[in-house]
Amino acid sequence: MMVSRRHFVTQLAAGASLACGSPLVWSSSPRPHSTSALTSNHAVATVHPLATDAAMEILHSGGNAIDAAIAAALVLGVVDGHNSGIGGGCLVLIRLADGRIRAIDGRETAGAAAHPSQFTSKGKADPQLSQTGPLASGVPGQIAAMDRMHRAHGNLPWERLFDHAIRIAHEGHPASRSTARTVAREAEDLIRYPASRGILLHSNGEPFREGELLVQRDLAQTLRNIAAHGGDWFYAGEFAKTTCRYLASIGGFLTESDFVRYQALDRNPLSQPYRHHTVIGFPTPSSGGIHIAQMLAMLEPYELHGIFESSSIQGYHLLAECMKRAFADRAYWLGDSDFVDVPRGLLNGDYLRDRMKDFSPKGASIGIERGVPPGSDPSVYATRELEQAVPKESEDRKHTTHLTVADAHGNWVAMTCTVNTSWGSKVMVPGTGVMLNNQMDDFSLAPGTPNAFGLVGSYANAIAPGKRPLSSMSPSIVLDADRLPAVTCGAAGGPRIITATLQVLLRVLDLKQAIKDAISGCRVHHQWSPDTLLAEKANPTTNGVSTERERGNNDPYAITQETMDGLQSLGHTVRPAEALAIAQGIQRDGDRLRAAHDPRAQGSSGD
Ligand code: GLY
Repeated sequence: MMVSRRHFVTQLAAGASLACGSPLVWSSSPRPHSTSALTSNHAVATVHPLATDAAMEILHSGGNAIDAAIAAALVLGVVDGHNSGIGGGCLVLIRLADGRIRAIDGRETAGAAAHPSQFTSKGKADPQLSQTGPLASGVPGQIAAMDRMHRAHGNLPWERLFDHAIRIAHEGHPASRSTARTVAREAEDLIRYPASRGILLHSNGEPFREGELLVQRDLAQTLRNIAAHGGDWFYAGEFAKTTCRYLASIGGFLTESDFVRYQALDRNPLSQPYRHHTVIGFPTPSSGGIHIAQMLAMLEPYELHGIFESSSIQGYHLLAECMKRAFADRAYWLGDSDFVDVPRGLLNGDYLRDRMKDFSPKGASIGIERGVPPGSDPSVYATRELEQAVPKESEDRKHTTHLTVADAHGNWVAMTCTVNTSWGSKVMVPGTGVMLNNQMDDFSLAPGTPNAFGLVGSYANAIAPGKRPLSSMSPSIVLDADRLPAVTCGAAGGPRIITATLQVLLRVLDLKQAIKDAISGCRVHHQWSPDTLLAEKANPTTNGVSTERERGNNDPYAITQETMDGLQSLGHTVRPAEALAIAQGIQRDGDRLRAAHDPRAQGSSGD
């Protein structure tokens, strides 16, 4: 059954969200609070010290959390361009000082000419085409999302937010270890595109090495133009023209009309009660908010702290079983809800209790299938292809980036940005310094065909013109019983984003850990297909970034060889993993904010 195209998202009125049928879930109603200071400080966490410094400087200069998040995201696009940049997209969850919540969707969008057949060779779906080259990109959404959040809530002038990024791009910065590592890994593809080669490789073809000065003058000029002329220059002006002309010359289909038509959208945030808190998450096109809410509801009947205290093996077993059930639903039901009906019943309490009915502490459930949420048509998509899918392990790579900022007034921003896999499509637009995303790979090229992350999907996530590919990005904000912001978290790492964000939240809310320990603690990941439980062993020795001191040694729930053996004997296929996802978070502790970055990367945080 083909997914029908309901309408183009551009036909949505500003502020509308799930346009087909009723909204998936409710939005949290505004509860105004005083705008006097909520805390005595502000806080920032990102994966790069230059981005954290930029956000801090903006806050110290009278900017609010919205301004600071934009400045940090722009800097990350310069110093961490393999993960995110203005050629990519983002999802932004904002808790405003007056209590309103906004979910701004800057997800990339398929062009009007997009069709599954473009990603086929010799009659078969060919992920190479959705991962590298001129077909791999959707229309970038990051600039539109930042423009939308700044127009509504920014404090400092738009162009001021570009100062740091422009300066760093113009003067250069020492390439980070992860930049150097990803350039070396992707050099074979980067070399095929002259602008990518010109910026990231030396004239003899050698990749930039860690510590070498990476100068990006074209990107600096592009940023200057956007600072001066706004998003129109990007979507309806020179950038769109140059990009589409270049893409057409190398076989791409995106058009200037696709750029003109692009809009960042407001979505109805998800709101899931959990114990004495409310967890606010991002709805489709993210799958993250829905599945975190599902797993929280599945876990709520269990006394997690007691379970983990008596046996970490039992604790991680329970988490893995929830993950399998949620990801089985993801593969079948999830897609862009402007195009397909994503059942509201996925978050129905009875449905989720029923999903866990066959959970046994004695062993892993075999043959878990997607559920049938109330009010859904169980036969809407075929399952044969999903059942026949050949499972694919994804590599231990952590693409994407999550940053978070909270200011003293109570504005909190959780922002996840991405060009998808490292250096996106590998296609840099000549003369602009902008690397285009490869987000088309987040669609299901064909039911059951795994993407770069090993994820499979049904026709719900099939390619269609104007559609947004399903994401795992999971910016999350937790409100306390007074609906004041208590914790925020999000992560990078493909589908591991969902399970990492869940585990950080559980460690804070159930295991009563401080955000720093919650982020550094060991994690597991199961995504239903392949049927493999990834487990981070404590004290990694080869990552070169995480340190034994920072990670594992202080974790009362560390995953040891004994934990892994225990999980294996419960029937899980356990595979040790080096580092699952990179998370950033902030926690409010009375009137103090505490920020934490992930020791698995070279980030920084300040509060
Ligand atoms: N491109 C990664 C994600 O959005 O899940």
